[in-house]
Amino acid sequence: MTHGNVSAEFKKLVNQTAVIHPNEVLLKIASFMGPADEANPSIPAGWTYFGQFVDHDLTFTKTDGMNARTPIFDLDSLYGQGPASEAHGELYEGPSGNETFKTGNPDNPEGDLFRNLESVAQIPDPRNDENIIIASLQLLFQKFHNRLVSHQGMSFAQAKQTVTWHYQSVVKTDFLPRIVGQNRIDEIEKNGRKIFLPSQIDEVFMPTEFSGACYRFGHSMVREMYSFNDKFNNEPSNANLFFKFKGGRPGKNGHQITDKWTLQGNGNSLLRFFDPSILDPVRDADNRSGKIDTKLASTLFNLEVKRGENNVLAHRNLISGQRLGLANGQQVVSAIRTAGVSVSPLTSAEILSNGAPAEIADNTPLWYYTLIEAEVQNNGACLGDMGGTIVAETIIGLLQSDPHSVVNKTTNWPFKLGDQNTDAVSMIDIIGFVGSA
Ligand code: HEM
Repeated sequence: MTHGNVSAEFKKLVNQTAVIHPNEVLLKIASFMGPADEANPSIPAGWTYFGQFVDHDLTFTKTDGMNARTPIFDLDSLYGQGPASEAHGELYEGPSGNETFKTGNPDNPEGDLFRNLESVAQIPDPRNDENIIIASLQLLFQKFHNRLVSHQGMSFAQAKQTVTWHYQSVVKTDFLPRIVGQNRIDEIEKNGRKIFLPSQIDEVFMPTEFSGACYRFGHSMVREMYSFNDKFNNEPSNANLFFKFKGGRPGKNGHQITDKWTLQGNGNSLLRFFDPSILDPVRDADNRSGKIDTKLASTLFNLEVKRGENNVLAHRNLISGQRLGLANGQQVVSAIRTAGVSVSPLTSAEILSNGAPAEIADNTPLWYYTLIEAEVQNNGACLGDMGGTIVAETIIGLLQSDPHSVVNKTTNWPFKLGDQNTDAVSMIDIIGFVGSA
């Protein structure tokens, strides 16, 4: 099954399956995983939610096991099937060929997404309204598109291309180096990918190891407290605030970002999440991401879920990893080493170093391995050898295999923010451009 010419199937990179742990062991692991909250001094908090935004562009496991997203950086979670489509035509306004996103609502025209009468955001992927920060990122990219049409005279197609290239450049030059380290990227670009091997678009697929385990590293980066704006500068990321957007007047199913909470428009507070140096160290939460480690914030032990659903995220990830038949950390390390990547395996003692149950010493669930590896090898600052390789090879591979991506472009940028001599783009460039509207 395909979406256009990319596969809608998840496929494993490592053709092995871990021996199943009983649920008691998974529960024991989950209960060791926090709640706790330690800052990663080198990564601002906005990158946690940019990471989630990337996840929602690439992967959405449906109940039938297929991927609802195209596994390429095409922003299908932002544009959907476009203004001419029956599915998503209603998300747009303006003359044919120059469409812009509908944004805002009567209560908050500038700082919230376009919502229906029940306050449900009208966007292609509802997960991008799951918390106030990712909803604000969705709005940022919508406004970026709109401004290219209104201020740069671009058509819909030119603006979409420009937004997508900027986003891809941010992924490659501003996000990935923070998550995996520039050295790992340089090595992959020099020596080639060894484990994720598509080279053209019709060979592209989403690796199950990426979506089911390694890329879920971001769950450990969620923090307990954030500085949202001038008034709410040290607020808990509890369920009420995070998922219901405190202060909103929710309809039956939805919620809103009220003008009081808005992260855009007045004061452009989204910048607080990408440049925490503008914050007051005494008054404000530090707006650093959490360490990439085996500890999760309390918010993630109490997810907003439907009655009867599991509300402990760590437990859910561990169950999903087993259901997907993933190899364990040790098997993936050995497959990557065999493929020629230099990876230091963790010892059993290192795996248990944070109090994990002895049962997982030599059969470590891949998600847990990714996190303990980052903790042991890099003190939680970025991913370790195995997790870094899976994440970097997948992201670089998806960009390299897409003939329309920024790394394969054959024409000049129609318009570019930031340094004009390279393809580098930063989130701060985009926030600045949109904020100056
Ligand atoms: C408040 C923040 C977040 C919440 C509440 C959240 C919640 C969830 C939940 C409930 C799932 C489904 C778990 C399951 O039952 O298997 C999930 C899946 C996932 N999450 Fe998160 N997440 C958050 C942030 C992130 C971040 C920051 C990243 C990465 C940087 C991330 C990456 C993923 C991935 C890759 C999946 C699998 C997606 C799929 O294929 O369906 N998440 N998340």
